[in-house]
Amino acid sequence: MLEFEGEMSSVRDIDLLLEKILGEARRFTAADAGSIYVREGDSLRFSYTQNDTMQAKLPAGKKLIYSTFTTPINSSSISGHVALTAKPLNIADAWNIPAGTPYSFNRSYDELSGYRTRSMLTLPLIAQRGDVSGVLQLINAKNELGEVIPFPQSGMQILAHFANAAANAVERAKLTRGIIMRMNKMAELRDPKETGAHVNRVASYSVALYEAWAHEQNVAEDELERTRDLLRLAAMLHDVGKVAISDLILKKPGRFTPEEFAIMKEHTLFGARLFAELYSDIDEASLLVTMNHHERWDGNGYPGFVDYLTGEPLAGYETEDGKARGKKGEEIPLFGRIVAIADVYDALSNRRCYKEAWDQDAVVAELENESGKMFDPDLLRIFLQNIETFHHISTLYPD
Ligand SMILES: [Fe+2]
Ligand SMILES: [Fe+2]
Repeated sequence: MLEFEGEMSSVRDIDLLLEKILGEARRFTAADAGSIYVREGDSLRFSYTQNDTMQAKLPAGKKLIYSTFTTPINSSSISGHVALTAKPLNIADAWNIPAGTPYSFNRSYDELSGYRTRSMLTLPLIAQRGDVSGVLQLINAKNELGEVIPFPQSGMQILAHFANAAANAVERAKLTRGIIMRMNKMAELRDPKETGAHVNRVASYSVALYEAWAHEQNVAEDELERTRDLLRLAAMLHDVGKVAISDLILKKPGRFTPEEFAIMKEHTLFGARLFAELYSDIDEASLLVTMNHHERWDGNGYPGFVDYLTGEPLAGYETEDGKARGKKGEEIPLFGRIVAIADVYDALSNRRCYKEAWDQDAVVAELENESGKMFDPDLLRIFLQNIETFHHISTLYPD
């Protein structure tokens, strides 16, 4: 428990935190499945789910696909009832809730998936200030034989403590995410193309691509977790340097002149300068992303080997015309190569003020065409192998 609390305080990203909380709570109770709801005003957002039985039906390494939805905080649903009363609820069989109970179980997911929900333990997540910040729901406790049993009443006290620690960690992560979202909001106010939805999608694609890559590379589990946490936050900030670019250029409807494009390219350096002090590993990761997301595998990207503080070429990296040489291949940091694919995939797949959304086949053809030119061919292969995952992520954050 103590170890878990310590571990949670080191996770700064809310999505990864939810995943971790749910995984640990399920391990503690031997629950087959579970979900987390996060409070948003007067409703709960179904934010994350795990299900071992459904996961086992998928090919190795594939992610469970689910949709998010919101439910009002009232007694019509079990999660809503728990958020309303702020008391845990231990149900032996969700399909046989006695008549006269205020809440009822919605069977539609079970009917759609063929999954049978039986025992269900639903806990409020209560943070320091005393209000409910979310709901943790554990489903189908199992005994040693793998049979579904009711959740034992005996573990409830430890679980309540666990839920409080989780709630505090969620509050902290919200704070960090909130600051980053505000930085992005500032960039969005300047450049309407960089929306909150785009930023969230690029971050999620980046993490999913990193995970698939790390899987292939046999990266150790703890390094993988630490890295994807940093990558998510950093990827959200990829274009934050656009706050420093003139409106005349950012909002220009037509094509850029070469001079305008040269100024536009500087958003990479302005972004990097925001993190130059390196107070934390978030700063370090953000610097890598802002600086390197427009480099190209073939060396024709920007800004290349420059000092981000001065914009001058680094010694030894000047080309004949005195400009900086572009980074190429693995000279480009991994985070830059990942975010480059994520950013372009999202720009092609969605409508922008200057273009319509492309259909997935056309997007895939275009990405394939850029293999080894714009993109790292290895990362792109992994991306295309998991294309349904990325398409699914795009539906979680609509414009
Ligand atoms: Fe950019
Ligand atoms: Fe972008």
